[in-house]
Amino acid sequence: MKVEGTVKSVKDQVKEWKKEGLSIGFVPTMGYLHEGHKSLMDAARKGNDKVVVSIFVNPMQFGPTEDLASYPRDLEADAKLCEAAGASLIFHPEPEEMYKDGFCSFVDMNGLTNALCGLSRPVHFRVCTVVNKLFNIVQPDKAYFGEKDAQQLAVIKRMVTDLNMDIEIVGCPIIREADGLAKSSRNTYLNAEERQAALVLNRSLKAGKALVDAGETRACVIKSAITAEIEKEPLAKIDYVDVVDFDTITPVEKLEGSILVAIAVYIGKTRLIDNFIVEK
Ligand code: PAF
Repeated sequence: MKVEGTVKSVKDQVKEWKKEGLSIGFVPTMGYLHEGHKSLMDAARKGNDKVVVSIFVNPMQFGPTEDLASYPRDLEADAKLCEAAGASLIFHPEPEEMYKDGFCSFVDMNGLTNALCGLSRPVHFRVCTVVNKLFNIVQPDKAYFGEKDAQQLAVIKRMVTDLNMDIEIVGCPIIREADGLAKSSRNTYLNAEERQAALVLNRSLKAGKALVDAGETRACVIKSAITAEIEKEPLAKIDYVDVVDFDTITPVEKLEGSILVAIAVYIGKTRLIDNFIVEK
């Protein structure tokens, strides 16, 4: 497995693979990899000849008060995980390699980003710009994203459709710890008490899902049940609890079609997200 830091070296390798007729599966990440990322690599390995993983903590998608400086990093451990998962190449650029002097071109989404995480993290969906750049560099046949960041997945699918990119976007299920907490690189910020309190995310979603399974279709009832469960946890502060159409990320009153029930909750200073998807 190679670790490359320049756009040119990745493009050269990709060119060779394409010449040989090999397909490329791509897993974009910010590193500090866990079982969730491994599940994306496993899916990419199954569906493609070569797997490329990018590890890039993209400064552009962090707001000024967010955790760019403290975002956890461990390239050595990440490389081991990628190697074990059968990746062929890690792209690990420095910010200066991705954003050269004078950089001023952005992918601007006018829909899908004005709700959920887009409201409390106004620059977060600059994700589209970096993902677009990464797609141009890696030129994958398929790219793999976790359903934990469900809004990001919907946004990327829309971007690929709107911009006529020949890339299949594959969403992969949320991977959880044994006690139900969704795997996230940010879980590392939690102290023991907060780690316990964080279980309220999955617990509250289970309460919402139980209502859906019992036939409830009113979004407001599901939202209230989830909110009430989270409010029982003293260390939790709700950022949002929302029920939206999964394709358009617009609020719905009734559960019909593909529905995303999504939450963002602060546990102490750590903001965690989780969700479930309902097909009606
Ligand atoms: O989901 C992530 O880790 C990031 O948002 C991504 C897609 C790698 C872009 O920086």
